[in-house]
Amino acid sequence: MEIDPLVKKLVKLHYHSDLDALALQSFPEEVDVDFLINQIKGRRKAREKLPEWAKNKQIIYPPYLSMEQCSSQFTAQRKALFFDGRTVLDMTGGIGVDAYYISKKVDKYTLVEQQSNLASINQHNFKHLGQENIEIVVGNSIDFLKKELNYDIIYLDPARRKNTKSDKNSRAFFLEDFSPNVVSIYEKLFETSTKIIIKLAPMLDVQAVIEQLPDVKTTVAISYKNEVKELLVILSKEKEQRRRIAINLLDSSMREQYFESEEKPDITCPNSKFKKYIYEPNKAILKLQLQNHVGMYYELEKLDAFTHFYTSDELIANYPGRIFEVEKELPMKQKAFSSVFLSNKAHVISRNHPLSSEQIRNRFKLIAAGNDYLLACKNLGKKKLIWTKLVPTFEA
Ligand SMILES: C[S@@+](CC[C@H](N)C(=O)[O-])C[C@H]1O[C@@H](n2cnc3c(N)ncnc32)[C@H](O)[C@@H]1O
Repeated sequence: MEIDPLVKKLVKLHYHSDLDALALQSFPEEVDVDFLINQIKGRRKAREKLPEWAKNKQIIYPPYLSMEQCSSQFTAQRKALFFDGRTVLDMTGGIGVDAYYISKKVDKYTLVEQQSNLASINQHNFKHLGQENIEIVVGNSIDFLKKELNYDIIYLDPARRKNTKSDKNSRAFFLEDFSPNVVSIYEKLFETSTKIIIKLAPMLDVQAVIEQLPDVKTTVAISYKNEVKELLVILSKEKEQRRRIAINLLDSSMREQYFESEEKPDITCPNSKFKKYIYEPNKAILKLQLQNHVGMYYELEKLDAFTHFYTSDELIANYPGRIFEVEKELPMKQKAFSSVFLSNKAHVISRNHPLSSEQIRNRFKLIAAGNDYLLACKNLGKKKLIWTKLVPTFEA
């Protein structure tokens, strides 16, 4: 599989073209126009998600949906650091983004993918990326597992199946809705390896997953720019304390906010009236329900049992989240707002308050811009509007 030199030229020539118009243009008969358009769309997407691949003009991009759904270079690179073995079996190869970055950390990587077109694209791309330790197997990885195999780590990134239980009950997602169904091959996985790493969709409920997969030892949430992108569970039969790790990658330079904690019974923080600084945990921490662990670690107090804002008179500049410096409490009156927010610029964050951010913004005609933040919340059981300024920390 190679890209035709004419198609390569056309991708370069039309990289900035309007693709709807391009689809109607006439090309020499040997040009597959759908393929050409897919390559342009794929490369555009790769520029933001897979910049290393986008620089390599030999890369062939898979159908666009796979490009949208795959891990980004940054989350794949960060995830790869959890692979501390020498051999890995990847049961869901996909378009090979995870395989490419994880294989750089191990000696031998076996990728199994059931879609033969994706397997061929992988073969081509790994050759041009110079990654030589990946063996590609086309087929069903559940059948592959029936062989007498031994790997240090098995990796799975199951695909969402269509027409599943969740579609009828659209709010919930279940492990059984993904292929392969890890629950049904659970013991077989441990006959082949002592460590299993599974990437899960961020919408899955962490506690429900742990109940279904009893050997989960570590749960990891990875965010990019404070949006949770991946949930990883690391399973082993070793006797060790369960832990949770929240990572927020701040930008493409891989600077990050990191917080790790052993699993402890319910932790509460003392409640208090807001002080000089208010702290908002990042989303990876919230996803793993680590907000009170972080609060305790930094000796913060909480505004209310269900308001995930924390407070202190000290500035903790390396707090894993945003920090706001309090200006003053405001009454719910237009007059108070007009004198404070000149040109009506202020962000609104509503937590555990009867009015949503949007309702407050609309009521006071605020534009979400600038450095002023209005925090609407419950503090010691009372509704509050607190005018603050975002503290420009290293992390923010
Ligand atoms: C979410 S994608 C994986 C993406 C991959 N981690 C990457 O970085 O590109 C899931 C892939 O698993 C494949 N798959 C699902 N069940 C499989 C099975 N039983 N055997 C082999 N491949 C399977 C699907 O065809 C799909 O390409």
